[in-house]
Amino acid sequence: MRLSLAELPTPVERAPWLDTTTAKVWIKRDDLSSPIYGGGKVRKLEWILANPPFDTDLPILSVGGVGSHHLLALALFLRTQGRTLHGLTFTQSLTPHVRNNLAVLLSCGAQLWNVPTRAQLPAAWLAYHLWRRPEVKGTPMSAGASTPLGCFGFVDAAFELAAQVQKGLLPKPDVLYVTAGSAGTSAGLALGFALAGMPVHLHLVSSVEPWAFNTVMMQLKMRGALSALREAGLEAPRSVRALLQGAGVTYEIDFDEVGAGYGEPTERGAAAVRLAGENDIALEPTYTAKCISALVRAEAHDRGKARNVLFWHTHAANDLSVHIEPGWEAKSPVSLDDLP
Ligand SMILES: Cc1ncc(COP(=O)(O)O)c(C=O)c1O
Repeated sequence: MRLSLAELPTPVERAPWLDTTTAKVWIKRDDLSSPIYGGGKVRKLEWILANPPFDTDLPILSVGGVGSHHLLALALFLRTQGRTLHGLTFTQSLTPHVRNNLAVLLSCGAQLWNVPTRAQLPAAWLAYHLWRRPEVKGTPMSAGASTPLGCFGFVDAAFELAAQVQKGLLPKPDVLYVTAGSAGTSAGLALGFALAGMPVHLHLVSSVEPWAFNTVMMQLKMRGALSALREAGLEAPRSVRALLQGAGVTYEIDFDEVGAGYGEPTERGAAAVRLAGENDIALEPTYTAKCISALVRAEAHDRGKARNVLFWHTHAANDLSVHIEPGWEAKSPVSLDDLP
């Protein structure tokens, strides 16, 4: 089962402003994937919200920063189903972007159990279950909606791109840049390209520190999604390694853009936001700015031969200010005074 929440396929377009002497760059415009809230999350939610245990009218409990795009996407899509989001959140650097996301999250009626740091999230979980219990408990969903079913959304996305290549809308990319957090996007794309028989190198730009995303995590996510696909009847090798090797799909994880940590803006990221903005592409500082920054840095080296490069844009282009209700600040679990 799958809900139809996204407008697919998303367009692909040339981005000559990112070209270098050897790189010719295209963009996969997932920022345009939904009139409600685009970006990558909607691809995961189409699968997750359609199936047990999340296909009920109960609240959903999930986890993220106070400006989390995952929580925001969940809150917005749950609201269309008359449902609410319970969030175990941690305070993150209160950039204007994070403040705006928090405003929308609270205006959508999301209830938050907030703690000051990521390390203290277990305390938020205890509060939720022991001393600040909600009337009705939410069904727990893992961070970033990167469950095996969530990965299906990006397996499908890889097939979508392969079809666009086949139609001649873009050449087959030699390398694809995408940003990674909870790894469902990366794992789904790697599996999807392998299953579609499209050899490509994935340059995964981590937005989190190596303890939060690494090769082990990537392998586990891919293994979980591949088992779920096989259980659903797909005939494919049992081994992720054999599947990827057989199709010529490779990946690397790039930590050079993380900077001071998850959600901490960097100067190179700010330059990427400006460059993209001049070319009508909206980035945010936590994920996509760091991804473009990595692309600019890595493609600046002359590779000796021409190569086709794809940037997978994972952040929603929607203007969410219409959702913000006056007085949302009163519900904020974090002090709004230290806005930079
Ligand atoms: C804009 C954006 N891009 C990319 C990602 C990373 O996706 P994943 O968590 O599947 O690695 C996220 C995750 O929250 C995101 O918000």
